[in-house]
Amino acid sequence: MPEPTPSAGAIPSPEADILAALGTRLVVLVGMMGAGKSTIGRRLAARLHLPFLDADAEIEAAAGMTIPEIFEIHGEPHFRDGEARVIARLLESGPAVLATGGGSFMREETRRRVNDKAISIWLKADADIIMRRVKRRADRPLLQTADPVATVGRLIDEREPVYRHADLTIASRDVPHEKIVEECIEALHGRLCGEVTPPEAAAGIMGGLR
Ligand code: S3P
Repeated sequence: MPEPTPSAGAIPSPEADILAALGTRLVVLVGMMGAGKSTIGRRLAARLHLPFLDADAEIEAAAGMTIPEIFEIHGEPHFRDGEARVIARLLESGPAVLATGGGSFMREETRRRVNDKAISIWLKADADIIMRRVKRRADRPLLQTADPVATVGRLIDEREPVYRHADLTIASRDVPHEKIVEECIEALHGRLCGEVTPPEAAAGIMGGLR
C-alpha cells in the first residue's frame, strides 16, 4: 500500500515553524516611506499564507479620503490619532502581516502595542534608495517641501533611533524582492524558533535579536 501523502500543513518548513510559533501575533513592518514595507509585506504574507494588511489603505478606507486629503483637511495631528487607532484595531486581527505607515512607530503607545501583539521588522533603507523610490509619486504629504532630500535626511535622523527598537532589522536595498523576503523568513525563523542563523545566511540581516 502506498504511504499516505502528508497534508501541506504537516510538511516541515521554516514557514510552517514560523506560523506555529507566531500563534495569533502579527508580523509588523516598520521603516521609512519607500523602504518597501507594502511590497515586501505583501510577498511575505503570501509566503506565510497569512492575510496582508496595509495600515495606510485601512486609514484611507476608514476616513473615506486619501492620506493627502486627510493631511490637507484635518492636519497631521488628526491623521496621527486616526493612524494609531487603526493600527490598534489591526493588531487585534492576527495572525497577519501588517505594513505600517512610516511615522506610526514614532508613537510610544503604538510601539508598546506592536511589542505586545507582534514581531516587528525594520526595513532599513538609506536616503538614496528612499529618494529614488518616493520621487515617482506625489502622494506623501510630508515630502511636499522645497527640499525633499533634506526632509528625508531629517526624518531618517529623527526616526532611525526609534526604528531600532524593532525586534529585527533587514537591509532594504536594490535586490530582487524575493531576496529580502527570504531574509525576513530567515530572521523570523531565528527569532521565533530559536535557531542560530548560519553566517552566510545572515549576510543581509543587519540587526540582531533583542
Ligand atoms: C508617512 C508615511 C506614509 C503615510 C503618510 C505619512 C510618514 O506611509 O502614512 O504619508 O510619516 O512617514 P508609507 O510609509 O507607507 O509611505
